[in-house]
Amino acid sequence: MKINPDIRQQFPILQRTINGKPLVYFDNGATTQKPKQVIDCIVKYYSEQNANIHRGVHTLSREATILFEEARKEVAAFIGADDTSIAFTQGTTDSINLVANALHYLNLPKGSEVVVTEMEHHSNILPWQLWCERNNAQLKVIPIDKDGRLVIENLETIVNEKTALVALTQVSNTLGIINPVKQIIKTIKSINPQSLVLIDGAQSTPHLQINVKDMGCDFFVFSGHKMYAPTGIGVLYVKQPLVEALPISRTGGGAIKTVTFNQTEYLDTIQRFEAGTPNIEGVLGLAEAIRFINSVGIKNIATHEHQLLELASKKLNEIPEVEIYGNIDVKDKAGVISFNVKNTHPFDVGTLLDKYGVAVRTGHHCTQPLMQCLNIPGTIRASFAIYNTTDEVELFIEALKKSIRLLS
Ligand SMILES: Cc1ncc(COP(=O)(O)O)c(C=O)c1O
Repeated sequence: MKINPDIRQQFPILQRTINGKPLVYFDNGATTQKPKQVIDCIVKYYSEQNANIHRGVHTLSREATILFEEARKEVAAFIGADDTSIAFTQGTTDSINLVANALHYLNLPKGSEVVVTEMEHHSNILPWQLWCERNNAQLKVIPIDKDGRLVIENLETIVNEKTALVALTQVSNTLGIINPVKQIIKTIKSINPQSLVLIDGAQSTPHLQINVKDMGCDFFVFSGHKMYAPTGIGVLYVKQPLVEALPISRTGGGAIKTVTFNQTEYLDTIQRFEAGTPNIEGVLGLAEAIRFINSVGIKNIATHEHQLLELASKKLNEIPEVEIYGNIDVKDKAGVISFNVKNTHPFDVGTLLDKYGVAVRTGHHCTQPLMQCLNIPGTIRASFAIYNTTDEVELFIEALKKSIRLLS
């Protein structure tokens, strides 16, 4: 699929040059660039619509509240959820912490266990590690095989009647591998129907069509900034009837029905998780980013990124010095590819690529346990978005070959 060249025009930052070269931005897994319509939406909010929401009777406040709640509907629809099931947070990390903190108050039986996977981002390990430390519980890990795929054939050796929650990513931020989460959730629930399942959608929402109801997860979390929206805004989906049953761990204005010094009655709606003034412009920016994605079509985005991934994979596989991690059929991957150049450090390659205007991510990508499993300090990661082109992939490969020559 050839993307409409107009799409690139919609991203002002793509006009930039870096070290005298046109910017080739392949660090989309870290954060995407923002289309003009998202930037304009935030400027408009502060120029014409700014007021606090939910509590005011004046016109501006009522207008801002309507915009905010309309945005909730659009964001919920984007992941196939009801608007009564999604809370706005600061991002994926914040959403996961919110759930982990809530578990503290659930009075889970002694000896409860939490399960994560070997490919998780630190944000989906550390809150559970802390929870286990504080609750004298055990953290268990689903391993990966030599190709980087999760080993899910004998899940019953890891998930059992003590499992309180399984937290796993839908797409690996380092390897790009798409996990069959629907099938995994089904297996987990067949082993222990009480076990909760949290899906980290940070790397899947920019690339895949999501339907949380069909997926069957209890929690789904993602960040706006990895899908063309501003930083500092994210989402926590909570399956009904958990919304009311999940204890709140953070409280304050906006989360309550009535307050006296003796007793407080909290909301039983999803807003109970949104204490304090929210990131209103972030919410509006996220809804605008979703309008952008819907106007292109998430399936067209996925098809386009797959073409880039296929080309990059083919070209990288042809370079003898390159070793790719998670080098599986690209149809099982989202637009992310991780590799190293033999006998070089990823930072050196990344620094040289920058000289040619190519922005890639280097390092452990907040997946140190995965790096330990692969026995490497880090990787070079190229990750694609709708505005990237095959010409950019060719440029990147040429820049990489020049870098390899310089380093050898
Ligand atoms: C898979 C995954 N989970 C969680 C996070 C954390 O996201 P945030 O920093 O937006 O909270 C990231 C960010 O890179 C990620 O890729």
